Amino acid sequence: MHLNLAFVAISAISSVLGAELGNSGADFEEYGKHTNQSLLWAPYRSNCYFGIRPRNVNESPLMMGLMWFDSSEVKGVNQLRHFVDTGDKLDKYGYESYDPRLGGKEVIIDGANNLNLTIHFAKSRNGENWGARIYGAPLDASKAKIPSLILYLNQNGEGSHLSTDLLKRQDKKTINLEGSALELGDYEIKISDNFGQYYERGPSVAHDLDSSKPSHFSFNVPDDEVWKARDIFQTMLTESVQKMVLSGTKMNPLSLPSLLMIRNLNNFAPGNFHFVQKTFDSHQPFEFDVIFNKKGSKQPIRSSGELTTLISWTMSELDARFNNKFSIADPDLKRFAQETLANLMGGIGYFHGTQKVDRTTEFDEEQFEKIDLKEAREEGPLQLFSSVPSRAFFPRGFYWDEGFHLLQMKEYDFDLTLEILQSWFALIEDDSGWIARELILGSEARSKVPEEFQVQNPNIANPPTLLLCFSEMLTLALEENLIDDGLSHEMSVTGVETGELLRRPELLTLYAEKIYPKLLRHYEWWTDGQRGYAEEYIESLGLKMHPEEVFRWVGRTFTHCLPSGLDDYPRAQPPDVAELHVDALSWAGVMTRSMKQISQVLGLTEEVQRLAKIEENIVDNLDSIHWNEQSHTYCDVTIDDDLDEVRKFVCHEGYISLMPFALKLVPKDSEKLKWFVELMGDTTKIFSEYGILSLSKQDSYFETGEIYWRGPVWINMNYLFLDSLAFYFQDSDQQQDAITVTKAKQLYRDLRENLISNMYKVWDEDGYVYENYNHNNGRGSGVQHFTGWSSLIVNILGRLPEEL
Ligand SMILES: *[C@@H]1O[C@H](CO)[C@@H](O)[C@H](O)[C@H]1NC(C)=O
Ligand SMILES: *[C@@H]1O[C@H](CO)[C@@H](O)[C@H](O)[C@H]1NC(C)=O
Repeated sequence: MHLNLAFVAISAISSVLGAELGNSGADFEEYGKHTNQSLLWAPYRSNCYFGIRPRNVNESPLMMGLMWFDSSEVKGVNQLRHFVDTGDKLDKYGYESYDPRLGGKEVIIDGANNLNLTIHFAKSRNGENWGARIYGAPLDASKAKIPSLILYLNQNGEGSHLSTDLLKRQDKKTINLEGSALELGDYEIKISDNFGQYYERGPSVAHDLDSSKPSHFSFNVPDDEVWKARDIFQTMLTESVQKMVLSGTKMNPLSLPSLLMIRNLNNFAPGNFHFVQKTFDSHQPFEFDVIFNKKGSKQPIRSSGELTTLISWTMSELDARFNNKFSIADPDLKRFAQETLANLMGGIGYFHGTQKVDRTTEFDEEQFEKIDLKEAREEGPLQLFSSVPSRAFFPRGFYWDEGFHLLQMKEYDFDLTLEILQSWFALIEDDSGWIARELILGSEARSKVPEEFQVQNPNIANPPTLLLCFSEMLTLALEENLIDDGLSHEMSVTGVETGELLRRPELLTLYAEKIYPKLLRHYEWWTDGQRGYAEEYIESLGLKMHPEEVFRWVGRTFTHCLPSGLDDYPRAQPPDVAELHVDALSWAGVMTRSMKQISQVLGLTEEVQRLAKIEENIVDNLDSIHWNEQSHTYCDVTIDDDLDEVRKFVCHEGYISLMPFALKLVPKDSEKLKWFVELMGDTTKIFSEYGILSLSKQDSYFETGEIYWRGPVWINMNYLFLDSLAFYFQDSDQQQDAITVTKAKQLYRDLRENLISNMYKVWDEDGYVYENYNHNNGRGSGVQHFTGWSSLIVNILGRLPEEL
C-alpha cells in the first residue's frame, strides 16, 4: 500500500516541476560550467601519495607527482616512496581535511625515513590556479637521516611544452617553468623554497653531483610512461652511481647525499618531463611551494604569502562545511569523522585510458570452475571520475563500492555526487547496457592489478548500488524542494556551492530525462543477464510465483560468488545452474524500484505501472520462493528433481539472509520484521560488540576458508541495517507489536554505539580505518586505510539519529 502513496506524492511534485523545466537548459549549462571550473584541479592521482592531474583533460594533461627517500645510505633508494603502498608501513598517510573543490591538508608520517611531511593544497576561488605547499621535518632530530624529495612534472600531448622560463630568474631557491597545452592554455609554474637548508656537509663529489643545491633537468618521456617516474629515477640514479664507482673516485661517507643526486648523464635534450630533486639537512624543517598560474588569470596566486592566505581560507572553509553538514558533539569523534570523510574524498580520482575486455569467452552455465578470460582486447580510451575503495590496494573504480561511497558523499556535497554518478552512467554501453564491475583504465591503473583480474567480461554483473543512490538523490531533491523555500533560486557562481541541485531539482530532473534511456538499457542488461531458470520447474515446484522475476548470479564458482560482492559467503553445494539467489532477487528489486522512482519523477506513467508490477512480483517472490518458515529466514534455493520436495533451501544466516530487510523490500507491516530484529540482536549468532557479523557463529561455514564474508564485520552492510531499522521503526505509526519495537530501538542504539566505539578505538590506536573488523576482537582486518565504504561511519556519526 505504501508504494502507491509514494507514487501519488512524487508524481504530484513532478508535475509542479514540469512547468519550470522550460528554460532550464541555459541554467544547466551554467551549472555545468561552474562544476567543471571548481573540479578542474586536484590531487586526482589518488594512487600516489601526492599526485596532481586535471579532470576532463585527456589529450594534454599536466601530470605531477612527489617522491622521497632517505639519502643517508645507498639502500635508502629502495624506500623511495611514490605510489601508496601498505608495504611501506607508514605510520600515517592521508588527509586530515580535504575536498576536491577546495583543497586540504595531507599528513604523511614515514618512520623508516624519519620524515614528517605535511602537504597543503589550495586553489584560487575560480579553480583556475593552485598551490601545493610541502613542509617536512625530522620525526626524531637525533637521527641522521637525510630526506631527499623529488618532484616530477610532465606536460603530455602533442604540440605541448613545459620548459624553464628563460625570462625569469632561476636560482637555488626558485625554479620557474612555463608551459603550454591545447586544453590548458599557457601557464606558469614556480617552485620556490620558504625555508630549510640544503645538505652541504662532506666534500663535493662532482660538479654535477652536489646536494647543496637542487638538481633540475628535463628530457622527453612518452606520455604513457610518465607514471613510471619512480623506475626512471632509479634507473638514472643507478647509472650515475655506477659511473662514479667505476671511475674509482674515493667517497667520503658524508658525501653520499651528493652521490644520490640525479643528473643528466646522457645529455638528453630538454623535453617536457622535469625532475627536480632537493636534499635537505635533516636537523631543521624545510618548506617549499609549487604554484601553478594560468596566464592572464584574474585570480593569480602571486606569492607564497598569497598562498598562505589561500590555505588558511581553505582550511577554515573546510571546517565550516563539515560542521554545516554533520553535527558531532564529541571533539575526538568529530576529528575521526572529519578525517575519515577527507580520506574518502581524497580517494577521488580521474582516470583515462583503455580497458581490457573479453567479449568472446562464453560462460558455460553447467560448469563452475574459474573461467579464464583469455580473449582480452584493449578498448577505449574511456574516462572515469570516481572515488576508490582504498588508495593503496584498490586505486580504481568499483561499481559496487561506488554506490556506497556516494551514499556517504551525497550528505556532504550533493552536486559532486551527481557528477560522479554521471561519469559512471556515461560508461553504460548504448547497445548492450553493460558497465564493467571494475574500471581499470590505462597502464598506470593496471599496474596495480594482477594480470588475471585485469580483464572484464559483459556477462558479469555486480549489485547495482549506483541506482540505489540515484533514486535516493531524486527523492531527496524533490522532498527538500517542497519543504525549504523562500530561498532565492538564483544560481550562485561566486561561492563554491555544493547543493545547487537541491535548490534547483529541475536541473536534476533534466539530467534524469537525458539519462533515462541508458539506465533502462542497463536495467535490461542486468535483469536479462542474471535471470534464473524457474519456468521448467514451476509445475513440480507447485508454488505460486512469478517465473520472470527470479534471479541468480552468473559466474559463481565452487568456492566464490564474486558477482554478488560477498565473495565467499556460503552458497549451495554443489553449485547448480538452477539455483536462485535471494540477494540477486533483492538487488533486482532495488533496481526496479529505482527505475520506477525515476520514471515517476519524469512523469512516465506507463513505465511506472509496468515497473511497479515487476516490483510487486519481486516482493511476492521473496516470500513465496525464498522464505523458509521453519528457520524464519530468507534463503537461497536450489532445485533437485530427485527429491520429494523439489525446492531445497540453502540457509545461511547473516548478510544474505537479511538482504531483503537491508534493502527495505519487506513491507512495513510484514510479520517477518520481528525475526530480523531477533536475528540481528542474537549474540549467539551475529550480534557482537563490534557490529553485526557477516555470517552466523552457528553456521557450519563460519570462520572457514579465507574468512572474508564468513564472520568479519563490514561497515557497508551495518550501515544498511541501521538505516533500515530507522526506516521501519522510527515512525510512531509503525505497524509492529510493542515488544518488537522496543527490541528494535534498543538494537539500533547498541549497534550504532558498538560500531562507533570500535572503529574509533582502532583508529585512535593506529590511525587507520579498515576494510572490515574482526568479529572476535574488533581489530581492523583486511586492507588497511580502506576509506571507501567503511567511511559510512561518518553518516552513522553525523546523520543517522542517535536513537529511534
Ligand atoms: C564540462 O566538461 C565536460 C567534459 O569535458 C564537457 O563535456 C561539458 O560540455 C562541460 N560543460 C560545460 C557547461 O562547459
Ligand atoms: C608533523 O609536523 C606538524 C607540523 O609541524 C606537527 O603539527 C605534527 O605534530 C608533526 N607530527 C609528528 C608525528 O611529529
